Amino acid sequence: MIVAYATAEDSRQGHEIAGLAAVALVTLRALWGLVGPAKARFDDFVTGPAAIIGYLRGLAAGTAPRFLGHTPAGGAMAVLLLVLVVATGLTGVLMVGGVLPHEAGEELHEILGTSILVVAGAHVLGVVVSSVGHRETLIRSMVTGWKPAPSDPA
Ligand code: HEM
Repeated sequence: MIVAYATAEDSRQGHEIAGLAAVALVTLRALWGLVGPAKARFDDFVTGPAAIIGYLRGLAAGTAPRFLGHTPAGGAMAVLLLVLVVATGLTGVLMVGGVLPHEAGEELHEILGTSILVVAGAHVLGVVVSSVGHRETLIRSMVTGWKPAPSDPA
């Protein structure tokens, strides 16, 4: 993703390869969401708007429950990011392939690509707020896949 942004204006080939690699990685993660371990699966963390709003209200009030997997808001953000990366890559491919008219395709591609940055920033902010709220280091859990259970003093 970083390479795709860094090369977006200067290196067409580098940008397309990096963009396709990002789409491939995200597709693998989406497959993992279907067949991976319980906490990695979409059915563990994809919830409706009511659960997301309820969680965010609880977080603001300091009463949000702690989740061992994704929180409802974190799950929604993750799905949004997966969709945006695939949509950005797809519009890039359709633009290069001449399926989308160049001007409109470029506009749409750039809007989608930029919105990834906005959503990723909001995702990071959410991770920080949730980590502070629950007094834990979510970034470590995102890398290792582990979270201490409620009864675990660590
Ligand atoms: C998810 C990964 C991707 C991201 C985040 C991304 C992001 C961007 C951004 C922000 C721009 C606008 C650059 C500017 O003019 O300021 C751009 C341009 C472009 N992207 Fe992507 N892109 C991605 C994937 C792809 C793919 C897979 C392709 C094609 C196979 C592609 C083809 C292009 C082309 C051809 C342009 C230049 C359009 C022009 O100025 O004529 N991109 N991309």
